Amino acid sequence: MKKILVTGGLGYIGSHTVVELQLAGFEVIIIDNLSNSSKEVIHGIKNITGVEPTFEELDLRDKEATISFFKKHSAISGIIHFAASKAVGESVTNPLLYYENNLSTLITILQQIQHKENISFIFSSSCTVYGQAETMPISEKAPVQQAISPYGNTKQIGEEILQDTAKIAEGLQVISLRYFNPIGAHSSTEIGELPDGVPQNLVPFITQTAIGLRQELAVFGNDYPTEDGTCIRDYIHVVDLAKAHVTALKRLLDEKHETSFEVFNIGTGKGSSVLEVIESFERVSKQSLNYKIVGRREGDVISVYADTTKANTILGWKATSTLDEAMLSAWEWEQKVRKTK
Ligand code: NAD
Ligand code: WQD
Repeated sequence: MKKILVTGGLGYIGSHTVVELQLAGFEVIIIDNLSNSSKEVIHGIKNITGVEPTFEELDLRDKEATISFFKKHSAISGIIHFAASKAVGESVTNPLLYYENNLSTLITILQQIQHKENISFIFSSSCTVYGQAETMPISEKAPVQQAISPYGNTKQIGEEILQDTAKIAEGLQVISLRYFNPIGAHSSTEIGELPDGVPQNLVPFITQTAIGLRQELAVFGNDYPTEDGTCIRDYIHVVDLAKAHVTALKRLLDEKHETSFEVFNIGTGKGSSVLEVIESFERVSKQSLNYKIVGRREGDVISVYADTTKANTILGWKATSTLDEAMLSAWEWEQKVRKTK
């Protein structure tokens, strides 16, 4: 059984990926400092797979502790690195927190593994690296644009650090996955997204409004040059996204990769407007949502959706869930969370 380290494995995307890794027969060790997650998630994972992953509570900013971890666990074949801070707005007000948490941790990990004979590494990147691309859908060939936020910049710099390191570290092979907008939860309702405070993202705001936690959803602008005037994104079910990590990891472990640093877009290939997301929610939840149109949100790009040809053909992965399925899973998760609180 190959041992895989999942940093940030108790977080939203990490926990769903741990489940898929275990179901695919991998042994998982999680590192998490619980800054945006809780230990309860381990039970959720175990309830789905029947296997409790090994968990080390560790802050990757603690260099000594991280070095000791890698000394203790030398038999790791792969790393999926989710651990990072991800609030775009907070990164603007506290950039150093983001540069430290998202980049110094990456550097420390790479220092520990760069001399290993064989190590596979999957990086959590983001479609935010493309900014407002000139043509849609966005392929991996689209240029990386100057980042709008320090958060986005950490993803761009993270990719550069990995690319440069993979050039000189012979045993290191890297795949960077550029996620579009992950939504939804596991169909078991054992794990899902747990936003801290008022959600900044659309889907948790919708479900929290419907459950009565928020009064109404503010739709940020309906005067964009799109069909219904609201912004377009590529919303991908988190379980589809989790499966992409397993596929990417296997590609590296089976030495199917073409270069030591590869990039794939992970989305559905389909753009949905904010109003379409609301309609989907209303359809699957069989209730109407309280929302109003307000002004644009600063920094929002008009339209972003993926060209997934490379992931479909070269990686051999394709998203299978529909927007309705993802919205239903988000709604079922919200209802479960509120019932147990
Ligand atoms: P999340 O906050 O739910 O998960 C991140 C996990 O990392 C949390 O459990 C947190 O406690 C942990 N963590 C943070 N800093 C740490 C540190 N110093 N040491 C140890 N653990 C630490 O976030 P997520 O939505 O699951 O995102 C996972 C990754 O995917 C992040 O790198 C994020 O930037 C990236 N990403 C997320 C999205 C999205 O919309 N959710 C989109 C694109 C990329
Ligand atoms: C989606 C759409 C909003 C909330 C962010 C990060 C990005 C990535 C994913 C990590 C937009 C609209 C939202 C609300 C609204 N994360 N909206 N009312 O902005 O595409 O991306 O999360 O890498 O880096 O920037 O996602 O969910 O915030 O917004 O109308 O209350 O919903 O304007 O059009 P976004 P989002």
